Amino acid sequence: MRRKLAAGNWKMNGLRADLAELENLPQDQGVDVLICLPTTLIPAARDLPLAIGGQDCHAATHGAHTGDISAPMLVDAGATYVLTGHSERRSDHGETDADVAAKSKAAHETGLITIICIGETLAIRAAGTTLDIIDGQLAKSVPDCATAENTLIAYEPVWAIGTGKVPSTDQIAEVHAHIHARLAERFSDGADFGILYGGSVKSSNAAEIFAVPHVTGALVGGASLKAADFAPIVTALAAS
Ligand code: 13P
Repeated sequence: MRRKLAAGNWKMNGLRADLAELENLPQDQGVDVLICLPTTLIPAARDLPLAIGGQDCHAATHGAHTGDISAPMLVDAGATYVLTGHSERRSDHGETDADVAAKSKAAHETGLITIICIGETLAIRAAGTTLDIIDGQLAKSVPDCATAENTLIAYEPVWAIGTGKVPSTDQIAEVHAHIHARLAERFSDGADFGILYGGSVKSSNAAEIFAVPHVTGALVGGASLKAADFAPIVTALAAS
């Protein structure tokens, strides 16, 4: 079973001077700490005492894909993790579940631990079909080569990202239990996959979210940019 993971996603934020925020995060608390950085910052962050990830990778190892970054390039820069299928990649770049599965497979073949992001829109939540959408995303975005060692799932309701709105703990519990059950049905080690919650996680709500069954960590956007905001989330996870 993978250790609990406090993961930050800096998205398209941060210049080299901002890496100072990562120097004093809590260490040795029995949980893993990861920051997914803009690719430009990965080489400068590779020696910091925490794991570094990319935010996306191409499905090919190299080739004529201007502006894209491959999984071997991320490894070469110093990353050990990568996010795939973040809702902002799906909406800004039209990425499909099949694209996400291909990127995740490429990441696995390069030895990157992959955090595959899934989650429903507000319209889906209102229509009452959240679990159906989650089923489809899990079936089509998670490749057959996924294992508990090389993959975590991040449940990020699109309507909770950057909005300050957070699902109730009952809603998080329902979706996380569902993801856990589906993974256990499909993969021999499916019950051991880490399942992160993401969407407006802050120090003020982290403890109650981490108390929800089958929540093994968080994927944190805005509150990962400053050590003062992210450190209490790491501490809350360690205490959970
Ligand atoms: P916020 O924590 O800013 O809502 O972002 C969540 C997210 O998208 C992490 O990947």
